[in-house]
Order: sequence, then C-alpha cells, then structure tokens
Amino acid sequence: MARSFNRQAIHDSLRLISAALSASSLYSIEHQQVRFLIPQIRESLANLLSQQGELTFLIVKEDLLFDGKPLDRTPHTERIARLLYARNIGFIRFHQGLETREVELLLQVATGLAEAAIFNSESPHIDYGEIDTQEGLEGARPIFCFEELTVEELQSIGTFYDTIGDRSNLDIREISSIIAGFASAFQQEANPLLALVPLREEDEYTFTHSINVAILNLAQGNSLGLKGQLLHDVGIAGMLHDSGKIFIDKEILRKPGDLSEEEWRQMQQHPSRGAQYLMGQEGIPALAIITAFEHHMRYDKKGYPEVSTEWQVNLCTQMTMISDTFDALRTRRTYKEPWDFAKISGRMLELVSSQLNPYLTLNFLKMMSELGEQIIESGISLSADAPQRSEAELACRHVCE
Ligand SMILES: [Fe+2]
Ligand SMILES: [Fe+2]
Repeated sequence: MARSFNRQAIHDSLRLISAALSASSLYSIEHQQVRFLIPQIRESLANLLSQQGELTFLIVKEDLLFDGKPLDRTPHTERIARLLYARNIGFIRFHQGLETREVELLLQVATGLAEAAIFNSESPHIDYGEIDTQEGLEGARPIFCFEELTVEELQSIGTFYDTIGDRSNLDIREISSIIAGFASAFQQEANPLLALVPLREEDEYTFTHSINVAILNLAQGNSLGLKGQLLHDVGIAGMLHDSGKIFIDKEILRKPGDLSEEEWRQMQQHPSRGAQYLMGQEGIPALAIITAFEHHMRYDKKGYPEVSTEWQVNLCTQMTMISDTFDALRTRRTYKEPWDFAKISGRMLELVSSQLNPYLTLNFLKMMSELGEQIIESGISLSADAPQRSEAELACRHVCE
C-alpha cells in the first residue's frame, strides 16, 4: 500500500471541502457554487483514493490528523475539524469508489442537515466513528490475561504483590523473567493479543490492572520498534506504575462514591509513595521509578504531583498513561455489551492533548484496531463476562484517577 502521500494534495482536497462547507453555510447546499464544487471534491478524493484505497482523518477538536500525523492547521482544516467535531465525529474514512452523492451527504452531515448515521445506510464508501462523550463508565471488570501464564508465574506475581504489601524487599528477578516472557511472546506472535483471554473474576484488581498495563505497554513498545532491554523496562514500568497504591488506605481505594478532600489528598500520594518505594529496591529500572512518579501528571502537566510546565514527562510514562486509560475505560463499564472499540477510541481522542500524547495515542489506537480486527477474525472474544460486583472491582474505581 502506498504510504508516501503528497500532503499538499490532501490539503487541496480539504480546501475544496472547506470552500463547499463555507458556501453551504452562507447560502445553501443547493447553491450553484456548492454544486460546482461537489464533483471537484469527489475527483480530488478519488485521485487520493486511487493511491491508497482508503483515507482516514481523525478529528481532534480543531485539528485534523491524517496517517497518524496532525495536518498543518489552516482555516480549511480548522473549519472541517470544528464542524465534524460538533457532530460528534471522531474519525471519518473514505473508501475507493466514492460517489458524488456521498460527497453531498458529507456536506449535509457536516453542516448539520443530516445525522452522521446516514453514512451507515446511504454511503457505502464513507464510514465514521463517534466521539463518546457520555460518562457513565463506572464499576469494573478485568479484561486480559496471558493464557499461557503458568501456575508458577501466577504465583510469583501474587507473591510479588504480597511483598510490596509487606513493605519487604522485592525480588525484581522474578518479575523481570515474567516480563521477559511477555516481551518475547510479543516478538514471536503475529498478533500478541491473541494470547490474551478475559481474566478471572477473582483476580486482584492491582494484579489484573498491572498485568494489563504491562501488556499494553509492551504492545505499544513493540509497535514503536523498541527491543531488548528498553522494551523490557517499558513492560516493567507498566507493571509497577501503581505500586504506591499499596500504601494507600484500602478503605479509600475501595470506596465506591466520591472521595472527601482528605481522602483525595491521600490518594494523590500514590505516585510519589510508589516511586519512593521503588527507589529503595534493588535492580528496579530507572524508567519504572520515573513512570510510577509521573503517571498521573497528564500530558498538559495539570495532574499530580504538581510540577512546573517545563517538566518533561518521560515517553515511557506517556505510553503508560495511554495503557492505563485504555484499561480503565475497558474495566469501568457496568453494562454488559460487546467489545466496542469505536467508543473507547472516541473517548481517548477526547483526552488527546490534555491528558494523553496525541502521536502515541494515535499509534496505540491504530495498533489496537488492527489487532482487534485480527482477534475478531480469529473468533476469540476480547470482552470479559460482566462479573459480580466485588471488593476488587470497587477498588478498580480509582484505577485511572
Ligand atoms: Fe495510578
Ligand atoms: Fe493505573
């Protein structure tokens, strides 16, 4: 598939769409200027589609992203992004064979004359994903586990968390060998997530969440070309990012409702408590200590612990924030419904630039959507059965806070 796009050609198409949108808003979609532009838009998109088969634009508030990278912001990209964003559209994808009437539908949707759902029924060459702005993600359910984990490995992970709980010294070699096992699986499997199955209900929340974040970190690292020690350390950092939770009062961790000011103050100590603990342990990779400390800082540094705006959040931390957010969104669902990647990706795109690194998030979503497709084709379900509400689940309530 050709990947070397002339970005100017993309901008030229967008300029035509923007001009048609502007004329539609000023006059009407029936205006001759709009009628004149519609076939030009189709032709220019068809030229691009002939090179690649499909074109996907992600909408992040006032920016458009193409092929994983933000397009230079112009009045045209801004207008299109703003209008689509206002219609709750997170991405839009054009396929080869696009017809003139479908361009017209696009203009109707962008200007609010038609609902985006019309693409589903009347436009075989345009699809889209919604931004999910609904809250209502609460409760929890665990998702992934490595099917191949042996009993010994499961036990050593359990022991590892008991060790932290006892404030005693931690044997990094055990955890390190498990991560090494994961990492090599990621390098051998065409689709490493095929090895994941829904986790058992009785699993400890920290255990579940930490494994998930480690695996998702490894998947991200792998997709970014990280190898060897660095990939391994990124996995360990995911595994240990929430170590500081062990020092937080369990009543607070398990509290289902809102936290009081004092409880929240305590909760916010888990990154620094975790980093302090890890610093006192032998053989912990520096990346894991930094990640434990930084993982709630957010991309815009408005999280906690408070730091100056000049603070450079480590890339491994930024990857961990993405894995953490994804796992939290997956596990916070109370209602039972099948794997809905579009909703999760829409929500994550909303968090881009404020909480999450845009480039890494797009890479992550791209990777997950590709892996997800293979998983669906393989017949393996990624969704866990909705479990009974348990203490462990209540504890998950604060995973991403
Ligand atoms: Fe955390
Ligand atoms: Fe976490």
